[in-house]
Amino acid sequence: MYTFTESYMVPQAAQKKSALEEFRRDVLEGLNGSVKKLQSKYFYDKEGDRLFQQIMNCPEYYVTNCELEIFQQQTELLARMVIADGSAFDLIELGAGDATKSQYLLQHLINAEVPFTYMPIDISGNILSELEERLSSEIPALRVRSLEGDYFEMLQKAVAFTLKRKVVLLLGANIGNMAPQDALEFARRLRAGLQPGDRVVIGVDLKKHPRVIREAYDDREGITARFNLNLLARINRELKADFDIAQFEHYQHYDPDSGACKSYLVSLCNQVITIGKKEIPFAKDETIYMEISQKYTLNEVAMLAADSGFIPVSHCTDSKGWFVDACWVAG
Ligand SMILES: C[S@@+](CC[C@H](N)C(=O)[O-])C[C@H]1O[C@@H](n2cnc3c(N)ncnc32)[C@H](O)[C@@H]1O
Repeated sequence: MYTFTESYMVPQAAQKKSALEEFRRDVLEGLNGSVKKLQSKYFYDKEGDRLFQQIMNCPEYYVTNCELEIFQQQTELLARMVIADGSAFDLIELGAGDATKSQYLLQHLINAEVPFTYMPIDISGNILSELEERLSSEIPALRVRSLEGDYFEMLQKAVAFTLKRKVVLLLGANIGNMAPQDALEFARRLRAGLQPGDRVVIGVDLKKHPRVIREAYDDREGITARFNLNLLARINRELKADFDIAQFEHYQHYDPDSGACKSYLVSLCNQVITIGKKEIPFAKDETIYMEISQKYTLNEVAMLAADSGFIPVSHCTDSKGWFVDACWVAG
């Protein structure tokens, strides 16, 4: 047994500059549209990572507990999904975060001496450093090769490292942070990046009582509100803007018909925000659309697989039937 932790991409000054330029472009484009919006991938700076870890511990945020239950209690079944024919593979996790759940699977695979390399991909370099540090002390025998950046750019690099078969994890209902049409395009793009026989294990939050869903994204302690408002603070700091955070309020809406749970920030007054040299006017009660957390039925999950070129092979749900981890094979 040995420890092998490799950080693939150390962000260089030029890369940081271009990431900042892209952030600026996306923010200005999002706030200049007829409907103002921001991209939720920018939530995850250091403070955003910390707040998201607090959200995962909120009593109302059932999403993590349900998937954690699956990873703790059905580890053997999950392991069978990824081990497949027993040949060596690369286990690529998209948006790995702190790998709270996948860690159970990783430990199980290491205990069973399964030959694999773990490749976590995340846009947050901060969370990847934390993850690498924790994994190297908690599962020292694990081979880790982490990639910092956007899902597909990094997936392309990850699949090219070796000729081994690939198993891709997309947990935590990350797919729900895309509108259904975008999720379908994402799944098709994912399929296009894989070879027939490669596998995906995807965590999807299921439709349930609408109040349970709404409360999960509008916790009493206001952590989700702070998580959303933190993006304005990040824009202030990184893009030299002057949002008055106290003049915005978090608002959450769940539509049981469409399964779309959406978060917004509402401007509490008429105000003009400056970002660098650009001015952005806000009317009182005008909203910024921040994030979608789309909910599905089991049937819709199977349709998503079929429509994107995957074959659903098996799935596990938690004891309440609120969350599913489904295994798809690239057809
Ligand atoms: C909701 S958290 C879930 C984390 C983890 N999968 C879990 O289940 O606990 C989303 C994670 O995906 C990452 N992320 C979001 N958008 C991304 C993107 N476009 N490319 C890469 N990572 C992304 C975030 O930095 C964050 O760590």
